[in-house]
Amino acid sequence: MTITKAAAIGGGVIGGGWIARLALNGHDVTVFDPHPEAKRKVDEVMKNARRAYKRMAKKGLPKEGKVTFAKSIAEAVSGADFIQESVPERLDVKLKTLAEIEAAAPADALIGSSTSGFKATDMAKDMKHPERFLVAHPFNPVYLLPINEIVPGEKTSKKFVERAREVYTAIGMKCVVINKEIDAFVGNRLLEAAWREALWLVKDGVCTVEELDDIMRYGFGLRWAQMGMFQTYRIAGGEAGMRHFMAQFGPALAWPWTKLMDVPEFNDELVDLIATQSDDQSSKWSIRELERIRDDNLVSIYEGLARHGSKGWGAGELHKDYVKRLGAAAPKKKPGVVSRVAKAAGKAAKAVRGAVTRGKKAATKAAPAKKSAKAKTVAKKPAVKKPAAKAKRR
Ligand SMILES: NC(=O)c1ccc[n+]([C@@H]2O[C@H](COP(=O)([O-])OP(=O)(O)OC[C@H]3O[C@@H](n4cnc5c(N)ncnc54)[C@H](O)[C@@H]3O)[C@@H](O)[C@H]2O)c1
Repeated sequence: MTITKAAAIGGGVIGGGWIARLALNGHDVTVFDPHPEAKRKVDEVMKNARRAYKRMAKKGLPKEGKVTFAKSIAEAVSGADFIQESVPERLDVKLKTLAEIEAAAPADALIGSSTSGFKATDMAKDMKHPERFLVAHPFNPVYLLPINEIVPGEKTSKKFVERAREVYTAIGMKCVVINKEIDAFVGNRLLEAAWREALWLVKDGVCTVEELDDIMRYGFGLRWAQMGMFQTYRIAGGEAGMRHFMAQFGPALAWPWTKLMDVPEFNDELVDLIATQSDDQSSKWSIRELERIRDDNLVSIYEGLARHGSKGWGAGELHKDYVKRLGAAAPKKKPGVVSRVAKAAGKAAKAVRGAVTRGKKAATKAAPAKKSAKAKTVAKKPAVKKPAAKAKRR
């Protein structure tokens, strides 16, 4: 299934990323977001996304889709066959938004929710057509990070899971359909564990936010980006692999090292501590500058991973294919005046070469054993002198 008309409900950090991914894949998108500055914010995200895609898509891009702002949810979703909901993470807001979407959208439009943690079953409880609704959980920046956790609800039909897989794959994403419906899915379960532990480590004065980030980005973060957790640990087990790794480090889980079961009290003191240290670490850059730094680095990482072997590795393999597909969908360039003249000159030169070859062939046929007078003259000509070594060096 290809998208005919896409609608984005919510145009914040995540909605903006969806809008950019869709538009840069050539799809028109109708957006509804009640925020008075929604258009400016989406424009800013689009600007950064265009910049990243220009760097990344060296073989060209499809003609960019048109982004239109609607005055209501009803206007945005009318006639849409693909709708992505990215409103704030509050169940009451999600329920109200879904009711408004259903009231105006075609009954068979695919609806994906960007929620970070709610189950599709809970969000769809009042829906008339819950079979076409599922969680499609992306990561920021949506226009560059390919992963999409597809989490169907109890009433989502297989047909719509497959349709979702097709639609999101067609815009360059890597879909993982999650087997069991749980809150926060897989990615955010892992992130929450790390985030909780990180807050304790800073709160307890073990390290600063910058030191913690350095331990990740100069260390295991580099491994995670290419091999994830299990493949990395398989290697860490040495030649005996995963079984040895588990035997060696498994018992440590019972000691335990972490504070994963406790939640640090989320008071002003903790927020001040983290926010002040974060300012010390990063306030020399604006958020938009940090986004551009992040995007440049992501593209470099993809390109590095794409160079592994003949196919590329992990996200690099997907990247290679995505760039190729974007290029194949790029409008064919019309030859400009200069290239038309060059083409005509090329044709004329080819015609002359053809005539000369035909003439030579005819002459050879007529006198196969004799060298022509012209050929003899050329043979006698002194060879063109090579420039002196000194002159060459200069
Ligand atoms: N920020 C992340 O890293 C991240 C990652 C993955 C998923 N998500 C999920 O994506 C969703 C959106 O999060 P976000 O980070 O973009 O939040 P955000 O606050 O940046 O954006 C939410 C947008 O929704 C708009 N909005 C509010 N009410 C609306 C309504 N009734 N109709 C349409 N738009 C409305 C707001 O004006 C705002 O622009 C949430 O469900 C969140 O959990 C966030």
